[in-house]
Amino acid sequence: MAEQRTLIHGQWSNRTVFILAATGSAVGLGNIWKFPYIAGENGGGTFVLVYLLCIALIGLPIMMAEIMLGRRGKQSPINTMRALSREEHRNPNWVWLGWLGVVAGILILSYYSVIAGWAISYVFRTAGGMFQGVTADGVNSIFTDLVSDPERLLAWHTVFMVMTMAVVARGVKNGIEKAVTFLMPLLFGLLIIVVIYAMTTGHFMEGVRFLFTPGPIDGKGVLIAMGHAFFTLSLGMGAIMVYGSYMKKQHSIAQASMLIALADTVVALLAGMAIFPIVFANGLEPGAGPGLIFQTLPIAFGHMQGGTLVGVLFFSLLVFAAWTSAISLIEPAVAYLVENKGMSRIHAAEWMGGITWFIGLGTVFSFNIWKDKTLTIPYLFENFTFFDSLDYLTANIMLPIGGLFIALFSVWIMREQSTRDELATHPMLYNIWRFLLRFITPVAVIVVFLKAVGAI
Ligand code: PHE
Repeated sequence: MAEQRTLIHGQWSNRTVFILAATGSAVGLGNIWKFPYIAGENGGGTFVLVYLLCIALIGLPIMMAEIMLGRRGKQSPINTMRALSREEHRNPNWVWLGWLGVVAGILILSYYSVIAGWAISYVFRTAGGMFQGVTADGVNSIFTDLVSDPERLLAWHTVFMVMTMAVVARGVKNGIEKAVTFLMPLLFGLLIIVVIYAMTTGHFMEGVRFLFTPGPIDGKGVLIAMGHAFFTLSLGMGAIMVYGSYMKKQHSIAQASMLIALADTVVALLAGMAIFPIVFANGLEPGAGPGLIFQTLPIAFGHMQGGTLVGVLFFSLLVFAAWTSAISLIEPAVAYLVENKGMSRIHAAEWMGGITWFIGLGTVFSFNIWKDKTLTIPYLFENFTFFDSLDYLTANIMLPIGGLFIALFSVWIMREQSTRDELATHPMLYNIWRFLLRFITPVAVIVVFLKAVGAI
Protein backbone atom coordinates (compact mmCIF):
# COMPACT_ATOMS: atom_id res chain seq x y z
CA MET A 1 0.00 0.00 0.00
CA ALA A 2 1.28 3.45 -0.80
CA GLU A 3 1.86 5.68 2.21
CA GLN A 4 -0.59 8.50 2.67
CA ARG A 5 0.93 11.71 1.43
CA THR A 6 -0.62 15.12 1.35
CA LEU A 7 -0.47 17.39 -1.63
CA ILE A 8 0.73 20.85 -0.87
CA HIS A 9 1.18 22.18 -4.39
CA GLY A 10 -2.27 21.41 -5.83
CA GLN A 11 -3.31 19.14 -8.70
CA TRP A 12 -3.99 19.54 -12.41
CA SER A 13 -7.67 20.11 -13.09
CA ASN A 14 -7.97 17.26 -15.55
CA ARG A 15 -6.12 14.85 -17.78
CA THR A 16 -5.82 17.21 -20.72
CA VAL A 17 -4.18 19.83 -18.56
CA PHE A 18 -1.52 17.41 -17.43
CA ILE A 19 -0.81 16.42 -21.02
CA LEU A 20 -0.64 20.04 -22.11
CA ALA A 21 1.63 21.05 -19.27
CA ALA A 22 3.97 18.13 -19.85
CA THR A 23 3.93 18.85 -23.57
CA GLY A 24 4.65 22.47 -22.72
CA SER A 25 7.67 21.27 -20.78
CA ALA A 26 8.83 18.95 -23.54
CA VAL A 27 8.28 21.25 -26.52
CA GLY A 28 10.67 24.15 -26.31
CA LEU A 29 13.96 25.44 -27.58
CA GLY A 30 15.10 21.82 -27.71
CA ASN A 31 12.80 21.11 -30.62
CA ILE A 32 13.03 24.29 -32.63
CA TRP A 33 16.44 25.71 -31.79
CA LYS A 34 18.57 22.77 -30.72
CA PHE A 35 17.37 19.80 -32.75
CA PRO A 36 18.00 21.38 -36.18
CA TYR A 37 21.46 22.66 -35.28
CA ILE A 38 22.74 19.47 -33.71
CA ALA A 39 21.25 17.42 -36.53
CA GLY A 40 23.09 19.78 -38.90
CA GLU A 41 26.36 19.50 -37.01
CA ASN A 42 26.19 15.73 -36.90
CA GLY A 43 25.42 15.07 -40.54
CA GLY A 44 21.63 14.69 -40.56
CA GLY A 45 20.07 11.32 -41.50
CA THR A 46 21.68 8.80 -39.19
CA PHE A 47 21.64 11.24 -36.31
CA VAL A 48 17.89 11.70 -36.76
CA LEU A 49 17.38 7.96 -36.92
CA VAL A 50 19.33 7.34 -33.71
CA TYR A 51 17.42 10.15 -32.05
CA LEU A 52 14.08 8.63 -33.06
CA LEU A 53 15.14 5.19 -31.80
CA CYS A 54 16.23 6.72 -28.50
CA ILE A 55 12.86 8.45 -28.14
CA ALA A 56 11.00 5.17 -28.65
CA LEU A 57 13.19 2.70 -26.76
CA ILE A 58 14.69 4.86 -24.04
CA GLY A 59 12.71 8.08 -23.75
CA LEU A 60 9.18 6.75 -23.76
CA PRO A 61 9.67 4.04 -21.10
CA ILE A 62 11.64 6.45 -18.90
CA MET A 63 8.93 9.04 -19.27
CA MET A 64 6.38 6.54 -18.00
CA ALA A 65 8.69 5.70 -15.10
CA GLU A 66 9.22 9.33 -14.18
CA ILE A 67 5.54 10.20 -14.21
CA MET A 68 4.85 7.07 -12.19
CA LEU A 69 7.44 7.89 -9.52
CA GLY A 70 6.18 11.44 -9.26
CA ARG A 71 2.56 10.47 -8.97
CA ARG A 72 3.31 7.88 -6.33
CA GLY A 73 5.65 10.13 -4.36
CA LYS A 74 3.44 13.25 -4.68
CA GLN A 75 6.23 15.68 -3.80
CA SER A 76 9.28 17.37 -5.24
CA PRO A 77 11.68 14.81 -6.79
CA ILE A 78 14.03 14.96 -3.80
CA ASN A 79 11.28 14.14 -1.34
CA THR A 80 9.65 11.71 -3.73
CA MET A 81 12.84 9.69 -3.96
CA ARG A 82 13.19 9.81 -0.20
CA ALA A 83 9.60 8.69 0.36
CA LEU A 84 9.66 5.94 -2.22
CA SER A 85 12.93 4.44 -1.07
CA ARG A 86 11.55 4.40 2.46
CA GLU A 87 8.28 2.86 1.34
CA GLU A 88 10.14 0.12 -0.51
CA HIS A 89 12.53 -0.33 2.44
CA ARG A 90 15.53 0.52 0.31
CA ASN A 91 18.72 2.51 0.66
CA PRO A 92 17.94 6.17 1.50
CA ASN A 93 20.77 7.31 -0.77
CA TRP A 94 18.36 7.24 -3.71
CA VAL A 95 17.50 10.73 -2.57
CA TRP A 96 20.65 11.88 -4.38
CA LEU A 97 18.91 11.18 -7.64
CA GLY A 98 16.54 13.98 -6.75
CA TRP A 99 19.45 16.30 -6.00
CA LEU A 100 21.16 15.47 -9.29
CA GLY A 101 17.99 16.52 -11.06
CA VAL A 102 17.70 19.79 -9.18
CA VAL A 103 21.26 20.74 -10.07
CA ALA A 104 20.82 19.70 -13.71
CA GLY A 105 17.64 21.77 -13.94
CA ILE A 106 19.32 24.91 -12.65
CA LEU A 107 22.32 24.51 -14.92
CA ILE A 108 20.16 23.91 -17.97
CA LEU A 109 17.91 26.86 -17.20
CA SER A 110 20.95 29.11 -16.81
CA TYR A 111 21.77 28.84 -20.51
CA TYR A 112 18.26 28.11 -21.73
CA SER A 113 17.26 31.54 -20.52
CA VAL A 114 20.03 33.24 -22.48
CA ILE A 115 18.92 31.56 -25.71
CA ALA A 116 15.29 32.36 -24.96
CA GLY A 117 16.52 35.94 -24.62
CA TRP A 118 17.77 35.79 -28.22
CA ALA A 119 14.27 34.77 -29.25
CA ILE A 120 12.72 37.71 -27.38
CA SER A 121 15.06 40.12 -29.08
CA TYR A 122 14.10 38.58 -32.43
CA VAL A 123 10.44 39.33 -31.78
CA PHE A 124 11.34 43.03 -31.74
CA ARG A 125 13.76 42.83 -34.62
CA THR A 126 11.15 41.17 -36.79
CA ALA A 127 8.47 43.63 -35.72
CA GLY A 128 10.77 46.53 -36.59
CA GLY A 129 11.02 45.23 -40.16
CA MET A 130 14.72 44.50 -39.85
CA PHE A 131 14.49 41.40 -41.99
CA GLN A 132 12.46 42.66 -44.92
CA GLY A 133 14.12 41.45 -48.12
CA VAL A 134 17.18 40.46 -46.11
CA THR A 135 20.03 38.41 -47.58
CA ALA A 136 21.83 35.48 -46.00
CA ASP A 137 24.79 37.74 -45.23
CA GLY A 138 22.47 40.31 -43.72
CA VAL A 139 20.89 37.90 -41.24
CA ASN A 140 24.30 36.63 -40.37
CA SER A 141 25.62 39.99 -39.37
CA ILE A 142 22.44 40.87 -37.48
CA PHE A 143 22.91 37.70 -35.45
CA THR A 144 26.60 38.32 -34.83
CA ASP A 145 25.81 41.87 -33.71
CA LEU A 146 23.43 40.57 -31.09
CA VAL A 147 25.58 37.86 -29.58
CA SER A 148 28.69 39.96 -29.46
CA ASP A 149 26.97 42.49 -27.23
CA PRO A 150 27.02 41.18 -23.63
CA GLU A 151 24.83 43.96 -22.31
CA ARG A 152 21.98 43.19 -24.63
CA LEU A 153 22.23 39.46 -23.98
CA LEU A 154 22.24 40.15 -20.28
CA ALA A 155 19.19 42.37 -20.50
CA TRP A 156 17.14 39.77 -22.38
CA HIS A 157 18.37 36.96 -20.14
CA THR A 158 17.17 38.99 -17.17
CA VAL A 159 13.79 39.62 -18.77
CA PHE A 160 13.30 35.93 -19.43
CA MET A 161 14.32 34.89 -15.93
CA VAL A 162 11.89 37.39 -14.44
CA MET A 163 9.09 36.07 -16.66
CA THR A 164 9.84 32.51 -15.58
CA MET A 165 10.01 33.29 -11.90
CA ALA A 166 6.77 35.25 -12.07
CA VAL A 167 4.89 32.14 -13.18
CA VAL A 168 6.70 29.81 -10.83
CA ALA A 169 5.97 32.13 -7.90
CA ARG A 170 2.24 31.98 -8.64
CA GLY A 171 2.17 28.19 -8.69
CA VAL A 172 2.54 26.18 -11.79
CA LYS A 173 -1.06 25.33 -12.20
CA ASN A 174 -2.77 28.69 -12.49
CA GLY A 175 -0.28 30.14 -14.88
CA ILE A 176 0.32 27.30 -17.22
CA GLU A 177 -3.08 25.75 -17.52
CA LYS A 178 -4.72 28.53 -19.39
CA ALA A 179 -1.91 29.72 -21.56
CA VAL A 180 -0.86 26.35 -22.86
CA THR A 181 -4.32 25.43 -24.07
CA PHE A 182 -4.38 27.72 -27.03
CA LEU A 183 -0.79 28.78 -27.56
CA MET A 184 0.61 25.32 -28.23
CA PRO A 185 -1.75 24.63 -31.17
CA LEU A 186 -0.94 28.07 -32.55
CA LEU A 187 2.78 27.35 -32.52
CA PHE A 188 2.09 24.18 -34.40
CA GLY A 189 0.11 26.09 -37.04
CA LEU A 190 2.87 28.66 -37.53
CA LEU A 191 5.48 26.00 -37.90
CA ILE A 192 3.40 24.52 -40.68
CA ILE A 193 3.27 27.92 -42.41
CA VAL A 194 7.07 28.04 -42.39
CA VAL A 195 7.24 24.48 -43.73
CA ILE A 196 4.93 25.54 -46.55
CA TYR A 197 7.23 28.46 -47.30
CA ALA A 198 10.16 26.02 -47.26
CA MET A 199 8.37 24.02 -49.94
CA THR A 200 8.45 27.03 -52.23
CA THR A 201 12.21 27.48 -52.00
CA GLY A 202 12.83 24.77 -54.58
CA HIS A 203 15.13 23.00 -52.13
CA PHE A 204 12.55 21.24 -50.03
CA MET A 205 13.52 17.74 -51.06
CA GLU A 206 17.15 18.49 -50.45
CA GLY A 207 16.28 19.46 -46.89
CA VAL A 208 14.17 16.37 -46.38
CA ARG A 209 16.90 14.15 -47.82
CA PHE A 210 19.42 15.70 -45.49
CA LEU A 211 17.20 14.89 -42.53
CA PHE A 212 16.32 11.35 -43.49
CA THR A 213 19.13 9.85 -45.59
CA PRO A 214 21.51 7.84 -43.42
CA GLY A 215 25.17 8.76 -43.54
CA PRO A 216 28.21 8.33 -41.32
CA ILE A 217 28.06 9.07 -37.59
CA ASP A 218 30.60 8.59 -34.79
CA GLY A 219 30.24 7.56 -31.15
CA LYS A 220 30.00 11.18 -30.02
CA GLY A 221 27.19 11.83 -32.49
CA VAL A 222 25.29 8.88 -31.06
CA LEU A 223 25.74 10.23 -27.53
CA ILE A 224 24.51 13.66 -28.61
CA ALA A 225 21.46 12.06 -30.24
CA MET A 226 20.69 10.11 -27.08
CA GLY A 227 21.31 13.10 -24.83
CA HIS A 228 18.94 15.08 -26.97
CA ALA A 229 16.21 12.46 -26.60
CA PHE A 230 16.39 13.09 -22.84
CA PHE A 231 16.62 16.83 -23.22
CA THR A 232 13.75 17.21 -25.63
CA LEU A 233 11.40 15.03 -23.58
CA SER A 234 12.47 16.82 -20.35
CA LEU A 235 13.66 13.54 -18.86
CA GLY A 236 16.25 12.55 -16.31
CA MET A 237 16.04 15.57 -14.02
CA GLY A 238 12.67 15.44 -12.35
CA ALA A 239 10.71 17.97 -14.43
CA ILE A 240 8.29 15.36 -15.66
CA MET A 241 8.39 13.71 -12.24
CA VAL A 242 7.28 16.85 -10.49
CA TYR A 243 4.50 17.37 -13.04
CA GLY A 244 3.51 13.73 -12.50
CA SER A 245 3.17 14.45 -8.80
CA TYR A 246 0.35 16.88 -9.58
CA MET A 247 -1.47 14.23 -11.67
CA LYS A 248 -4.55 12.43 -10.47
CA LYS A 249 -4.50 8.74 -9.82
CA GLN A 250 -7.17 7.67 -12.30
CA HIS A 251 -5.43 8.88 -15.46
CA SER A 252 -3.44 6.65 -17.76
CA ILE A 253 0.29 7.26 -17.66
CA ALA A 254 1.06 5.18 -20.75
CA GLN A 255 -1.39 7.03 -22.94
CA ALA A 256 -0.29 10.45 -21.75
CA SER A 257 3.37 9.60 -22.31
CA MET A 258 2.76 8.48 -25.87
CA LEU A 259 0.87 11.63 -26.72
CA ILE A 260 3.58 13.85 -25.23
CA ALA A 261 6.40 12.04 -27.00
CA LEU A 262 4.53 12.09 -30.28
CA ALA A 263 3.74 15.81 -30.14
CA ASP A 264 7.33 16.58 -29.21
CA THR A 265 8.77 14.53 -32.05
CA VAL A 266 6.42 15.99 -34.64
CA VAL A 267 7.38 19.53 -33.65
CA ALA A 268 11.10 18.74 -33.94
CA LEU A 269 10.73 17.13 -37.35
CA LEU A 270 8.60 20.02 -38.60
CA ALA A 271 11.26 22.44 -37.41
CA GLY A 272 13.87 20.47 -39.33
CA MET A 273 11.74 20.51 -42.46
CA ALA A 274 11.23 24.23 -42.11
CA ILE A 275 14.88 25.06 -41.64
CA PHE A 276 16.99 22.84 -43.90
CA PRO A 277 15.35 23.79 -47.22
CA ILE A 278 16.07 27.44 -46.32
CA VAL A 279 19.65 26.48 -45.46
CA PHE A 280 20.21 24.87 -48.84
CA ALA A 281 18.29 27.45 -50.84
CA ASN A 282 20.56 30.18 -49.49
CA GLY A 283 23.85 28.33 -49.62
CA LEU A 284 24.12 28.31 -45.83
CA GLU A 285 25.99 25.82 -43.68
CA PRO A 286 23.85 23.09 -41.99
CA GLY A 287 26.52 22.87 -39.29
CA ALA A 288 26.38 26.59 -38.45
CA GLY A 289 25.80 25.84 -34.76
CA PRO A 290 23.58 27.48 -32.15
CA GLY A 291 22.74 30.44 -34.38
CA LEU A 292 21.19 28.24 -37.07
CA ILE A 293 17.51 29.11 -36.67
CA PHE A 294 18.32 32.77 -36.12
CA GLN A 295 20.24 32.82 -39.37
CA THR A 296 17.68 30.95 -41.47
CA LEU A 297 14.13 31.68 -40.40
CA PRO A 298 14.42 35.48 -40.74
CA ILE A 299 15.17 34.90 -44.43
CA ALA A 300 11.82 33.15 -44.75
CA PHE A 301 10.04 35.93 -42.86
CA GLY A 302 11.80 38.56 -44.90
CA HIS A 303 10.59 37.12 -48.19
CA MET A 304 7.15 35.62 -47.68
CA GLN A 305 3.81 37.43 -47.96
CA GLY A 306 2.87 38.85 -44.55
CA GLY A 307 6.24 37.69 -43.29
CA THR A 308 6.56 40.36 -40.63
CA LEU A 309 3.39 39.22 -38.92
CA VAL A 310 4.22 35.54 -39.28
CA GLY A 311 7.73 36.20 -37.98
CA VAL A 312 6.61 38.19 -34.97
CA LEU A 313 4.09 35.52 -34.11
CA PHE A 314 6.61 32.77 -34.64
CA PHE A 315 9.30 34.21 -32.39
CA SER A 316 6.70 35.14 -29.78
CA LEU A 317 5.50 31.57 -29.71
CA LEU A 318 9.05 30.32 -29.53
CA VAL A 319 9.52 32.47 -26.45
CA PHE A 320 6.32 31.06 -25.07
CA ALA A 321 7.40 27.48 -25.77
CA ALA A 322 10.69 28.20 -24.01
CA TRP A 323 8.81 29.74 -21.11
CA THR A 324 6.65 26.68 -20.45
CA SER A 325 9.81 24.54 -20.50
CA ALA A 326 11.78 26.88 -18.26
CA ILE A 327 9.11 26.72 -15.60
CA SER A 328 9.47 22.98 -15.39
CA LEU A 329 13.27 23.21 -15.19
CA ILE A 330 13.12 25.15 -11.94
CA GLU A 331 9.97 23.67 -10.43
CA PRO A 332 11.73 20.70 -8.75
CA ALA A 333 14.02 23.08 -6.85
CA VAL A 334 11.26 25.49 -5.91
CA ALA A 335 8.90 22.71 -4.78
CA TYR A 336 11.69 21.34 -2.59
CA LEU A 337 12.33 24.67 -0.88
CA VAL A 338 8.63 25.09 -0.21
CA GLU A 339 8.37 21.59 1.25
CA ASN A 340 11.50 21.49 3.36
CA LYS A 341 12.51 25.02 4.16
CA GLY A 342 9.06 26.37 4.78
CA MET A 343 9.59 29.13 2.21
CA SER A 344 6.74 30.74 0.35
CA ARG A 345 6.67 30.01 -3.38
CA ILE A 346 7.53 33.64 -4.08
CA HIS A 347 10.56 33.55 -1.87
CA ALA A 348 11.74 30.20 -3.20
CA ALA A 349 11.34 31.43 -6.78
CA GLU A 350 13.37 34.56 -6.04
CA TRP A 351 16.21 32.56 -4.57
CA MET A 352 16.41 29.95 -7.25
CA GLY A 353 15.91 32.54 -9.97
CA GLY A 354 18.77 34.62 -8.60
CA ILE A 355 21.19 31.72 -8.51
CA THR A 356 20.23 30.58 -12.00
CA TRP A 357 20.48 34.10 -13.38
CA PHE A 358 23.98 34.40 -11.98
CA ILE A 359 25.19 31.15 -13.52
CA GLY A 360 23.67 32.37 -16.78
CA LEU A 361 26.28 35.13 -16.93
CA GLY A 362 28.78 32.48 -17.99
CA THR A 363 26.70 31.74 -21.06
CA VAL A 364 26.15 35.41 -21.82
CA PHE A 365 29.92 35.93 -21.92
CA SER A 366 30.60 32.70 -23.86
CA PHE A 367 29.54 34.42 -27.06
CA ASN A 368 31.66 37.52 -26.64
CA ILE A 369 34.24 38.39 -23.98
CA TRP A 370 34.88 34.78 -22.97
CA LYS A 371 34.68 33.43 -26.50
CA ASP A 372 38.26 32.24 -26.36
CA LYS A 373 38.18 30.88 -22.84
CA THR A 374 37.68 27.20 -23.41
CA LEU A 375 37.61 23.97 -21.52
CA THR A 376 38.78 20.50 -22.52
CA ILE A 377 37.66 17.33 -20.81
CA PRO A 378 39.65 14.35 -22.04
CA TYR A 379 37.55 11.78 -23.91
CA LEU A 380 34.55 14.06 -23.94
CA PHE A 381 35.25 17.36 -25.65
CA GLU A 382 37.96 19.76 -26.63
CA ASN A 383 38.05 23.55 -26.51
CA PHE A 384 34.43 24.11 -25.58
CA THR A 385 33.22 27.47 -24.35
CA PHE A 386 31.40 27.76 -21.04
CA PHE A 387 28.08 27.47 -22.84
CA ASP A 388 29.14 24.48 -24.96
CA SER A 389 30.55 22.69 -21.91
CA LEU A 390 27.45 23.29 -19.81
CA ASP A 391 25.16 22.17 -22.59
CA TYR A 392 27.25 19.04 -23.20
CA LEU A 393 27.60 18.05 -19.56
CA THR A 394 23.94 18.55 -18.71
CA ALA A 395 22.22 17.14 -21.80
CA ASN A 396 24.63 14.36 -22.67
CA ILE A 397 25.88 13.28 -19.26
CA MET A 398 23.65 14.39 -16.38
CA LEU A 399 20.27 13.71 -17.98
CA PRO A 400 21.18 10.22 -19.27
CA ILE A 401 22.67 9.32 -15.88
CA GLY A 402 19.56 10.61 -14.12
CA GLY A 403 17.39 8.68 -16.57
CA LEU A 404 19.43 5.53 -16.13
CA PHE A 405 18.97 5.58 -12.37
CA ILE A 406 15.28 6.41 -12.68
CA ALA A 407 14.96 3.31 -14.84
CA LEU A 408 16.94 1.15 -12.43
CA PHE A 409 14.97 2.37 -9.44
CA SER A 410 11.62 1.74 -11.09
CA VAL A 411 12.21 -1.81 -12.18
CA TRP A 412 14.95 -3.22 -9.96
CA ILE A 413 14.32 -1.44 -6.68
CA MET A 414 10.58 -0.90 -6.49
CA ARG A 415 8.39 -3.93 -5.99
CA GLU A 416 6.68 -5.07 -9.15
CA GLN A 417 3.31 -4.73 -7.47
CA SER A 418 3.88 -1.05 -6.70
CA THR A 419 4.64 -0.18 -10.29
CA ARG A 420 1.86 -2.39 -11.61
CA ASP A 421 -0.60 -0.58 -9.32
CA GLU A 422 0.53 2.81 -10.45
CA LEU A 423 0.74 2.17 -14.18
CA ALA A 424 -2.48 0.11 -14.22
CA THR A 425 -2.07 -0.53 -17.89
CA HIS A 426 -2.70 -3.48 -20.22
CA PRO A 427 -0.66 -6.45 -18.91
CA MET A 428 1.19 -6.87 -22.17
CA LEU A 429 2.08 -3.20 -22.35
CA TYR A 430 3.25 -3.36 -18.75
CA ASN A 431 5.48 -6.32 -19.51
CA ILE A 432 7.01 -4.59 -22.51
CA TRP A 433 7.66 -1.49 -20.40
CA ARG A 434 9.27 -3.51 -17.67
CA PHE A 435 11.39 -5.52 -20.06
CA LEU A 436 12.63 -2.40 -21.84
CA LEU A 437 13.54 -0.67 -18.61
CA ARG A 438 15.14 -3.72 -17.02
CA PHE A 439 17.34 -4.73 -19.88
CA ILE A 440 17.27 -2.62 -23.01
CA THR A 441 17.34 0.94 -21.68
CA PRO A 442 20.20 0.57 -19.16
CA VAL A 443 22.35 -1.42 -21.56
CA ALA A 444 21.70 1.06 -24.36
CA VAL A 445 22.63 4.05 -22.20
CA ILE A 446 25.82 2.39 -20.96
CA VAL A 447 26.87 1.22 -24.42
CA VAL A 448 26.36 4.71 -25.84
CA PHE A 449 28.48 6.20 -23.03
CA LEU A 450 31.29 3.71 -23.58
CA LYS A 451 31.21 4.21 -27.31
CA ALA A 452 31.36 7.96 -26.98
CA VAL A 453 34.54 7.85 -24.90
CA GLY A 454 36.01 5.33 -27.28
CA ALA A 455 36.10 2.46 -24.76
CA ILE A 456 34.37 0.09 -27.19
N1 PHE B 1 12.40 19.75 -23.13
C1 PHE B 1 12.78 21.12 -23.17
C2 PHE B 1 13.06 21.51 -24.60
O1 PHE B 1 13.08 20.70 -25.48
C3 PHE B 1 13.96 21.39 -22.29
C4 PHE B 1 13.90 20.78 -20.94
C5 PHE B 1 14.85 19.86 -20.55
C6 PHE B 1 12.85 21.09 -20.07
C7 PHE B 1 14.79 19.23 -19.33
C8 PHE B 1 12.78 20.47 -18.82
C9 PHE B 1 13.74 19.54 -18.47
O2 PHE B 1 13.28 22.64 -24.89
